[in-house]
Amino acid sequence: MRNKVTIVGSGNVGATAAHWIASKELADVVLIDIIEGVPQGKGLDLLEAMPIEKRDCAILGTNDYADTANSNIVIITAGIPRKPGMSRDDLLNTNYKIMSDVVGKVVHHSPNCILIIVSNPLDAMAQAAYKISGFPRERVIGMAGVLDSARFRAFIAQHLNVSVENVTAFVLGGHGDTMVPLPRYSTVAGIPITELIDKATLDRIVQRTRDGGAEIVKYLKTGSAYYAPSAAATEMVEAILKDKKKILPCAAYLNGEYGIHGLFVGVPAKLGSKGIEQIIEIKLTAEEKAALDKSAAAVKELVGVINV
Ligand code: NAI
Ligand code: 2OP
Repeated sequence: MRNKVTIVGSGNVGATAAHWIASKELADVVLIDIIEGVPQGKGLDLLEAMPIEKRDCAILGTNDYADTANSNIVIITAGIPRKPGMSRDDLLNTNYKIMSDVVGKVVHHSPNCILIIVSNPLDAMAQAAYKISGFPRERVIGMAGVLDSARFRAFIAQHLNVSVENVTAFVLGGHGDTMVPLPRYSTVAGIPITELIDKATLDRIVQRTRDGGAEIVKYLKTGSAYYAPSAAATEMVEAILKDKKKILPCAAYLNGEYGIHGLFVGVPAKLGSKGIEQIIEIKLTAEEKAALDKSAAAVKELVGVINV
């Protein structure tokens, strides 16, 4: 039997994630939204592309949660994106209301699924989904680190004129202005980037990574990034469905790891069929740890506002 992935929110990130998942033939896909017609139209359009792409994936657009029943994974992208001048945190109350509406319905129909949260502000929304769902922490994962690290990797590859495949990089912390790119753990073909890029240039690349979301919002004006975010969520889906045991930076609920208790923060995590199968604790310098703590404090403040 084929795997089933539901995507809640059939907007830019949701519909593009459906596209990536189907193009990799990872699962049957259900697209759901509150707007009538949009998930049905996008779902049917994508289904009609399958013969051309030679992919056997059933794709269904719907407004009815009964169609999402028994999904292996549910990706939640429902919510409003930011516009120029807005921070991710400005979305907090609106998206929390949406999350409260959506998670209960998802859990009712797919009690054993793994939740991948995308809606912003990401870490607070993942924490809300964790609390509302009552799921164990292994099955609620926030997507941000894969995206932020991909941006970091893209900028490093572009600067050094090397293949993106040669570049590994890690960004930890919350998905916000305080995120923590870690040059010390970033390499090109195994060579630390600190040996290849001078400090001033590296500082500029780090700052561009932190501002990566805002850079796209400034261009688009009416919304935020969606190709890289949906590709990032798809990499997580693939790691889980194929039980790859792949270490990816994910927002995970920490129970003392990195000295952080009861909070979603971006850390390296091993993804497999059970969801988060291990949180990897890497050694941080005092400066890196202080930056991670600062980022966690920013998440804690938001979580406090919605009291989850
Ligand atoms: P979008 O506006 O294109 O799509 C959002 C969709 O959610 C809309 O179709 C809307 O009708 C739907 N929706 C709203 N309330 C709903 C409900 N109660 N039930 C079902 N569907 C509902 O926005 P886009 O660009 O797809 O972004 C979605 C969210 O993802 C935003 O909050 C954005 O900030 C966030 N995001 C997070 C990223 C991350 O790295 N974690 C990266 C990119 C976006
Ligand atoms: C991004 O980083 C909007 O959070 C989204 O592009």
